[in-house]
Amino acid sequence: MTIFQKTFKQKNNTIPIWFMRQAGRYLPEYMEVRKNFIDFLELCYNSKKAAEVTIQPIKRFGFDAAIIFSDILVLPHALGWKVIFEKGEGPILQKFETDKDLNSLNNKFDEKINHIYDTVSIVRSSLDKNKSLIGFAGSPWTVISYMLEGKGKQDFSVSKNFLYTKKKLALQLTDIITDKTIEYLSGQIGAGADVIQLFDSWSGVLSGEEYDDFVIKPTKKIVNSIKDKYPEIPIIGFPRGSGYLYQKYIDKTNIDAIGVDQFVPVDMMKKWQDKIVVQGNFDPVILLGNKEIIEKKANNILSELGNKNFIFNLGHGIFPNTPVENVEFLVNYVRNYKK
Ligand code: CP3
Repeated sequence: MTIFQKTFKQKNNTIPIWFMRQAGRYLPEYMEVRKNFIDFLELCYNSKKAAEVTIQPIKRFGFDAAIIFSDILVLPHALGWKVIFEKGEGPILQKFETDKDLNSLNNKFDEKINHIYDTVSIVRSSLDKNKSLIGFAGSPWTVISYMLEGKGKQDFSVSKNFLYTKKKLALQLTDIITDKTIEYLSGQIGAGADVIQLFDSWSGVLSGEEYDDFVIKPTKKIVNSIKDKYPEIPIIGFPRGSGYLYQKYIDKTNIDAIGVDQFVPVDMMKKWQDKIVVQGNFDPVILLGNKEIIEKKANNILSELGNKNFIFNLGHGIFPNTPVENVEFLVNYVRNYKK
């Protein structure tokens, strides 16, 4: 059993730790690999190199889990949707506008996505037995928000307006992405992923009926389908920015663990721990500062949450300008923390 799996069975006596975006631009060894690829997606589809990059932070810091190096926008891309990553611009996508656009979503999915499954197998075969391998996908709303906006830098007026005014079509698109996400996650589990995380980075811009229809329902469908096939695989949901709706998400989606952003009070997380594993919510900005503040903030979280049902993580991805030594300091601090 991995350290993560023990946490889900309340059998561990260490606090598992990993960081969102733990592989990435703050690591010089990542930049060394990255410089050989003009196109970021090419790195994602290069199983050997993606596996190497996945393992880098495990080698350096000894995290308890590796997360497959890929991106949430690989799924629509593999479906035939145009996605490009422009330096400094974030992703730029073909824009979804009418029902005719549904026809663009029938590319040779397997041909591209098999490369990601290969990455999973390569990583699994070289990863320590007690370390978990996290497979992931974006949640349908977060993925389609990029397709509807056509770009990464957005205010969501286009995508939300689409949900309000063309709901039927938005639901059709959501259904397609939901079913493909189930297939994609199953493939990652088949190849060796033993934990799943669903990234709903933009769940926080929805509320009311739209939150139910585009966040809760598709997430529940994904979770239940994966659980039918793979009851032993823990699923972490990360409905970033959901605020008051975190509670509903926990109650209605059937997830095993809740990823928590830095805006949720720790005493809320403490309440959730009675029923579910909680993960987060160390503010990644703190890692840009000095060791005194890192220690103080880590201690706040650990003293409140460290006893049970807890995975140490950040509230969002690590910033590219984070000093490596600060990451090392935080990991060591968590490791040496005595419950
Ligand atoms: O280490 C890991 O966490 C695994 C790899 C991973 C990446 N993206 C690599 C990446 C994961 C899990 C993601 C998830 C992802 N991608 C999310 C959900 C999490 C979150 O951050 O909210 C989202 C919304 C995306 C979409 C995305 N990918 C954007 C908006 C951008 C551009 C912004 C940026 O940070 O540059 C990316 C690019 C991206 N994905 C990079 C990496 C390492 C940087 C690309 C590069 O190296 O040039």
